[in-house]
Amino acid sequence: MSDRYAVIGNPIAHSKSPLIHAEFARQTGQCLEYGRILGDPNDFAGDARRFFAEGGRGLNVTVPFKEQAWALADERSPRAELAGAVNTLIRLDDGRLRGDNTDGVGLVRDLGDNHGFRFQGARVLLLGAGGAARGVLLPLLETGPERLLIANRTVSKAIELAALGAAFPSATPGAGGTVEGRGLKALEGESFDLIVNATSAGLSDAVPAIPEDCLSDGGWIYDMLYGDAPTAFQRWGRTHGAARALDGLGMLVEQAAEAFWLWRGARPETLPVIKLLRG
Ligand SMILES: NC(=O)c1ccc[n+]([C@@H]2O[C@H](COP(=O)([O-])OP(=O)(O)OC[C@H]3O[C@@H](n4cnc5c(N)ncnc54)[C@H](OP(=O)(O)O)[C@@H]3O)[C@@H](O)[C@H]2O)c1
Repeated sequence: MSDRYAVIGNPIAHSKSPLIHAEFARQTGQCLEYGRILGDPNDFAGDARRFFAEGGRGLNVTVPFKEQAWALADERSPRAELAGAVNTLIRLDDGRLRGDNTDGVGLVRDLGDNHGFRFQGARVLLLGAGGAARGVLLPLLETGPERLLIANRTVSKAIELAALGAAFPSATPGAGGTVEGRGLKALEGESFDLIVNATSAGLSDAVPAIPEDCLSDGGWIYDMLYGDAPTAFQRWGRTHGAARALDGLGMLVEQAAEAFWLWRGARPETLPVIKLLRG
C-alpha cells in the first residue's frame, strides 16, 4: 500500500495541494496517495488523530486549523514555534507528531530563488500581523534584511509580533538590522524595497491603507493572495511603480515542496508545477 498524506481544512474543495503533491510524486517517482479532508470545525484533533491512527504519514493543515495543529503537535520546529501555527504535521517513527511551518520558506524561496529578490540589506515592509504574517516572520528575518517593519491595522498586534521576532534567538535581522511594529497609519515618509501583503484585505478586493509613496524606486511588492486575475495589491503595485508585482501562487507551491521534502526527503522541481497551475 502506498503512503498516505492529505490536506485538512474547512473549506477544502478549492485546495490545489492534491494536484501539487501528485505532480511532485510523479516527478520524483515516489509512491504515495494525497487526499483532501474536510475538517470538523469542532473536532480538528479527532480528525487528525484518526488519520494518523489509520496509517497516515503526514498532513498539510490550512485555514482554520493551523493554530490547533500547533497545539496538537508533540514537538515543533523553531519556525513553527515562533509562528504559533503549524501547516505541516509529520508522523515520526515512534508515532509522535512533529509540527512545522513551511509558509515562510515558501515565501523566501519564491521571492529569492524563483524571482531573484535580494533580501540582504533590503528594507522590508510586512503588512498584517495575523497567521500568515506570523508564519513568515522567522524565515524573513533570517534572510538578513536591513530593516523589517511590521505594519498592521490593529497596532498592538504589529508591536507584539515585532517584539516576538526581536526576542527570538535566531531571528536577529542582518548585521545592524532592526525589526519594529507599527500601525498602518504610521508609515508616512517611509520607503521600502519590498512590501509583502500578508493581510486578508484582498479577499474583498481591497488593499491595506498605506501611503502612496512608500515603495522605493525599483521596489517590489508581493501579495500572498493569488487568483485567476491580478489581485488588488498587485494592481496597487503596478500603479505605484513596482518593478515586480507578484502573487502568492509560487509561495503556495514552494511551501508544498518544503513539506514534501520533510516527508519524503526528496526535493521536487517547483517551476514546472507553478507553470502548470498558471495554466
Ligand atoms: N500563498 C500562500 O501560500 C499563503 C499562505 C498563507 C496565507 N495566505 C494568504 O494570506 C492572507 C492572510 O491570511 P491570515 O491567515 O494571516 O489571516 P488572518 O489571521 O485572519 O489575519 C488577517 C490580517 O489581515 C488584516 N486585515 C484584514 N482586512 C484588512 C483591511 N481591509 N485592511 C488592512 N488590514 C486588514 C488583519 O488586521 P487586524 O489585525 O487589524 O484585523 C490581520 O492582520 C490570506 O489572504 C491568505 O489567503 C497565502
